[in-house]
This record gives sequence, C-alpha cells and structure tokens, in this order.
Amino acid sequence: MNPKIWSDEELLHYITTEDRAEMEELFAAARKVRKEHYGLDVYFRGLIECTNYCKNDCYYCGIRRSNAGANRYRLGSEEILECCRTGDTLGFRTFVLQGGEDPWFTDDRLCEIIRTIRTEFPDHAITLSMGERSRKSYKALFYAGVNRYLLRHESGDDTHYSAIHPPEMKLSSRKKCLYTLKELGFQTGAGFMTGAPFQTAECLLADLRFLQEMEPHMAGIGPFVPAAHTPFADHPAGSTDLTLRMAALTRLILPRVLLPATTALGVLSRDGMEQALLAGANVVMPNLSPGYAKKRYSIYNNKPYTDDEAAEGLHSMILRVKAAGFVPNMGARGDAKPA
Ligand code: 5AD
Repeated sequence: MNPKIWSDEELLHYITTEDRAEMEELFAAARKVRKEHYGLDVYFRGLIECTNYCKNDCYYCGIRRSNAGANRYRLGSEEILECCRTGDTLGFRTFVLQGGEDPWFTDDRLCEIIRTIRTEFPDHAITLSMGERSRKSYKALFYAGVNRYLLRHESGDDTHYSAIHPPEMKLSSRKKCLYTLKELGFQTGAGFMTGAPFQTAECLLADLRFLQEMEPHMAGIGPFVPAAHTPFADHPAGSTDLTLRMAALTRLILPRVLLPATTALGVLSRDGMEQALLAGANVVMPNLSPGYAKKRYSIYNNKPYTDDEAAEGLHSMILRVKAAGFVPNMGARGDAKPA
C-alpha cells in the first residue's frame, strides 16, 4: 500500500471507508511501515501546558479569547522549570512547552526561559508549541535552544480553514510559518483535527496532500471534541475510526513521521491510545503540568485530567504501552530521522 502515489479518488476511498477489513488492512500496512523505521519503540514527551491565555479566537477552541468562562492561568518561569525537573527525574528527555498565543510570552521572556532550561538540561530536546510568531522570533527561539516546533495547520483547505477561524486568521500565514520553521532548522510538526465542523472528505484529502508536500517531521492528528462556551459547542465530536484512518494514511505517506497518539482520541475511546499505536502512531505525551493547569487548559470538553502526580500518570501509561505490545523508550530523545 503506497498512498503517496495514489490518485485523489483512491485516497478518498480510504479516507471514507467504513469497511472493517479495509481499515484493518490500512492499519496493518501503517504498523509495518512504522516498524521498519522505528521498531516497536514508543517515544515519551513531557507536556507542559504553560498558559491558557490566547489572543486568537478559533471557533472550536475552549481557550479562545472570547470564552469568558475560561479560567485563565500562566505558569511562571520557576514553575515551568520545576515541571522540567520533575520530568527529568522521571526519565523524560523531551519537554513540550505548549500554550495559547499569549502576548505575555514576548521573545525576550520566552528566550530567557528557554536558555534557562537549555543550560540546566543541555542534552534534552525542547519543543515549543505557541502558535504563529514572526520569523525573527522563531530564529531567536532556535538560537536560544528550541529544537522542535509544533504548529498544526488545522485545515489544508482554504475555505474550510476560514469556516473554523475568524477572518483575521489565514491558512496562508499558517503555512508560511510552517515553512519558515522548517527552513530555520526546527524539527517541525503540522497537523489537523478530524471530524471538525464543516469538514468534508475533500478537506481531509487536502490535509494529506499538504503533509505530502510539506513533509513535516511530526504530525498531530486528533478528533474534534466540542468545547463548552464556543461557537461549535453543539457540534458532534469526530470519530475514532476516521482519526485512525487519517493517522494510518499519514504514516504511509510520511513513513518516518513522528506521530503522537493524541489525548483527544482518549476522550472518544478508553483505548484510543492503544488503537492509535496499532494504526501507526509512535509517540505519547504524558502531562507534566501542575494539577490546576491541567484542569484549566481545557481546549475541549472532558479533557482527561487527574490530580495524580506526574509519576502515577506516567507509570500507568508505560504499562498500557507495554500491554499493547510496544516498547516504551524514555531514554531516547526520539528525534526525527532524516527522510
Ligand atoms: N477539539 C479537538 N482539538 C482541538 N484543538 C483545539 N480545540 C480543539 C477541540 N475543540 C486542537 C487544535 C490545536 C491543538 C492544540 O488542539 O488543533 O492546534
């Protein structure tokens, strides 16, 4: 199975198929490709949700600026550093600093935080996921020590992108940021939601074609889950099967991509993580944020959070990864392999 050379019609067929046997064939092909490149290893990233302030107003997102119901917080530098220390003690070699587009995190402040982490953890991978910034900003962050940057493209179809974002947000700006990040030398992650309001099979085809063209090192793919107090609060959630088909197709189109089993999938199915690993995913991202932040970083309803210590969450995830037949690899940074 090589969807890279498939016609649009063939791709659309597998994007939409409900045939169990065909889906299993797709997942098995994705598993095989992933095994050729990464074996059975699953890489662990420690997620730190730094801020839920956001200047953007994406219609689907629970931390959009217009959501007066969102209980806002921002971690201080020392708190972020503490999360990194906890993560390091637990064995993490990658930290992912994620947040809304919070203007408090100016280049100076963010670079200072990054330099502090970089000094204390010279060998760890630092990933940032804080939205669209200028080329100058990305460059400064790269030289401060950031290795990777996640910025989902959200939708590869212009019309659909405009249907789920306010007019001031443009797919062209998003794509420009992604190409800039890649050119500057970041391991770069794109991605999208499945089952988002107004999304058609053709939109998902555009997502795959964009990934094929851009060749990101990472791809975040998760189902849309409605978020309270947003314009899309009453839209239905996406489906597990569609998300798994899109993850598997992504693995086949980008054999070496680092593909997380996303948290949103776990909201739809108890065994969402396991199913994603069996459909070609090879990354998990346990949450290292303080309890209060996990709770308030509610980009969608029912986001799982526990007041568990990070250690407990990690322990149960390691057991689940093993039980699914995979090998937790905490010790490696799990960098993208050259294409
Ligand atoms: N459902 C699922 N995913 C969402 N995101 C934001 N809001 C939602 C939602 N309601 C995703 C976006 C964003 C990422 C951090 O979370 O794709 O890029």
